[in-house]
Amino acid sequence: TDAHTPSLRTPIVAVLGHVDHGKTSLLDKVRGSAVIEGEAGAITQHIGATAVPLEVISEIAGDLVEPDDFDLPGLLFIDTPGHHSFTTLRSRGGALADIAILVVDVNDGFQPQTREALEILQRSETPFIVAANKVDTVPGWNANEDTPIQSTYDQQSERVQGAVDTALYEIIGQLSEAGFSADLYWRVQNFQRNVGVVPVSAMTGEGVPDLLAVMMGLSQRYMKAEMEIDVAGPGVGTVLEVKEEKGFGTTIDTVLYDGTIRADDRLVVGGTNDPIVTDVRALLQPRPLAEIRTESRFERVDEVSAASGIKIAAPDLGDAMAGAPVRVVRDRPVEDVIAEVRAELADIAVDTADEGVVVKADTLGSLEAMADALADAEVPIVRAEVGDVAPRDVSVASTADDANERVILGFNVDVLDDAERRAEIDDVRLFTDDVIYQLIEGYERFVEERER
Ligand code: GTP
Ligand code: MG
Repeated sequence: TDAHTPSLRTPIVAVLGHVDHGKTSLLDKVRGSAVIEGEAGAITQHIGATAVPLEVISEIAGDLVEPDDFDLPGLLFIDTPGHHSFTTLRSRGGALADIAILVVDVNDGFQPQTREALEILQRSETPFIVAANKVDTVPGWNANEDTPIQSTYDQQSERVQGAVDTALYEIIGQLSEAGFSADLYWRVQNFQRNVGVVPVSAMTGEGVPDLLAVMMGLSQRYMKAEMEIDVAGPGVGTVLEVKEEKGFGTTIDTVLYDGTIRADDRLVVGGTNDPIVTDVRALLQPRPLAEIRTESRFERVDEVSAASGIKIAAPDLGDAMAGAPVRVVRDRPVEDVIAEVRAELADIAVDTADEGVVVKADTLGSLEAMADALADAEVPIVRAEVGDVAPRDVSVASTADDANERVILGFNVDVLDDAERRAEIDDVRLFTDDVIYQLIEGYERFVEERER
């Protein structure tokens, strides 16, 4: 609309947290509230993401958000399933998300993936707030649907308030142990220095107005300079997932964070070997719920602009890597774009040593995060690659002289049967986990025990 500067793109908000702590429910609640407000059509479902325009945010947030105070077009929320590491959410120069919501179940508190998320937010210097979810499950809680948190809190009994306070201070204490100074969001003055904690319920909608208001304020205040992009330029994005799709072959689910992609564009995509040059066959979005019975789950679109989530069907995507860059060629020499993609891949490339452990990970982003964590732990890496643990990885590991380095560390990957058998014969130790710090701790314990 006219009130918005067209060159500001939608901030990308990653929703992170431990399995079952309520990430998807929170986004469902935002969608549900929009339906109640008669704004269902305004919210668009993207591949892996939900776009919520400013008008809808202000409807849901009521008095807490005055739309005239903002010139950002809204927020694009990316849901990250708990089993799938959000380390894929990378872009040139760091984090793909401009801002994040770390969802923590008030009863469950910090869990392994909560810690993992915190570490990565810290490394990537992504501003975030904590949604202390499921406040409605505190015994004795009386729900006041969709209200701001302070008004519903004031209406609870003293006993319930005490229980809520205890749970919240537990989370604030855990954040402080992790090195973050945190407080309830209404006490936070400087969100760059302190982490705001917003009590919410994805079930009852309590606190959701606050959450949206804080996210909007944070984006507006701290992120605006980075939102000013050339929205009409050739698109730049990151592969979230490489997927087979019936009728389309291999597709890439992509988050576009700059420019546009059109249905007739040529693309360069980061692959396991050389960059892939390919022509878009179809740009696909999920169909609106109302049309769910039609044959295809997807709808073809002609063009998308940042920020958005889009499924791209194109030939030759078999070697595309999750976490890799996607760049639109358009009116430039294709060699230049290939060079850009190569440079970007080189930036992510892990520094390897002559001797060290073998590292495998599911995406480029998680490989990068593993390499950072191993560098901190002063563990050298001889080989680092995206993909499942294969026999050739075992061959590499088996050449190590030091038994501490006859090791493969696999993050979020499978071990192929042949590789498992080979490892046993060659006396190579395999460690796998879906939490980075647990994986490294497991390896460190092994080294300690050997050296004792
Ligand atoms: P993964 O995607 O598996 O990582 O989980 P998630 O974080 O997306 O959690 P999800 O939204 O699927 O919620 C997990 C369970 O918690 C579901 O049964 C939800 O109904 C429930 N739940 C989520 N939020 C709330 C809440 O605020 N209150 C209550 N009572 N239940 C909730
Ligand atoms: Mg989920």
